[in-house]
Amino acid sequence: MVEARKLSRHTGAEILGVDLGQPLPPDVVAEIWKIFVEHTVIIFRGQELTQEQLVRATGQFGDCAEYTRPKEFQSETQRQLLPQIMLITNIREDGKPIGAHPDGEMWFHHDTIHREIPTKATLLYSLAVPTFGGNTAFANLFAAYDALPADLKKGLEGRTAFNSFNYGSNKKGDPNAVKAVSQSVHPAVRTHEDNGKRAIYVDRLMTQKLVEVPESESEAILSRVFDFIEREEFIYEHEWKKGDVVMWDNRSSIHARRDFPADQVRLMWRTTIAGDARPS
Ligand SMILES: [Fe+2]
Repeated sequence: MVEARKLSRHTGAEILGVDLGQPLPPDVVAEIWKIFVEHTVIIFRGQELTQEQLVRATGQFGDCAEYTRPKEFQSETQRQLLPQIMLITNIREDGKPIGAHPDGEMWFHHDTIHREIPTKATLLYSLAVPTFGGNTAFANLFAAYDALPADLKKGLEGRTAFNSFNYGSNKKGDPNAVKAVSQSVHPAVRTHEDNGKRAIYVDRLMTQKLVEVPESESEAILSRVFDFIEREEFIYEHEWKKGDVVMWDNRSSIHARRDFPADQVRLMWRTTIAGDARPS
């Protein structure tokens, strides 16, 4: 029996007494997955993992995907890691960031919504955290969909959204973006394949427009939807400690990073679980 503790009304559960460094029995993996799907975000505290252990832990829940940022936009340090691990840090060598998303605030988004087959889940393992700031806020988009005002629901249902991402950008129009873009069109509301529930599938950072309506109407709908889904009531905000592993469901949640001091080190390894179909 896996012990878990709910972290907010809609979002997040802490899994207790699990060492991700050790292989887990299949029934434990299945139980954790069930808690994960229901709460959209799960937290494991106090982990101590090598790269291999993080990749193996990820692989117990699905197919651990390789990091896809084009090699020419990766640092030497990034290239030396296992191919499944993405380095997220503000550490710089010779003035250049060695990891992705080095600084400050990052707008709400779904990881890899810009790809044709987005990842199911992301795992983030913290190796160094600043003394304050750099929290990650997660919003449950099953709950946000259920509570969405009828006119906005109508604005999204049956429509598709165009999503795009400039690698390296933390907000729309970010000057730190690199010249590599990934784009996709997906339903604006999707059905979760594990529980059949509907979840909103647009976000402030990566969704550019609704395809079927004029630009001005799209903007009017999306700006209200973004404000709605980022409301406090749907959010769990995670305060990182060294050794945390947080795993979130990209099919039913968005996340954002809060600002943090530029002169303190934040260092994380990220892995993802590959999706197996286009969202529908
Ligand atoms: Fe992200």
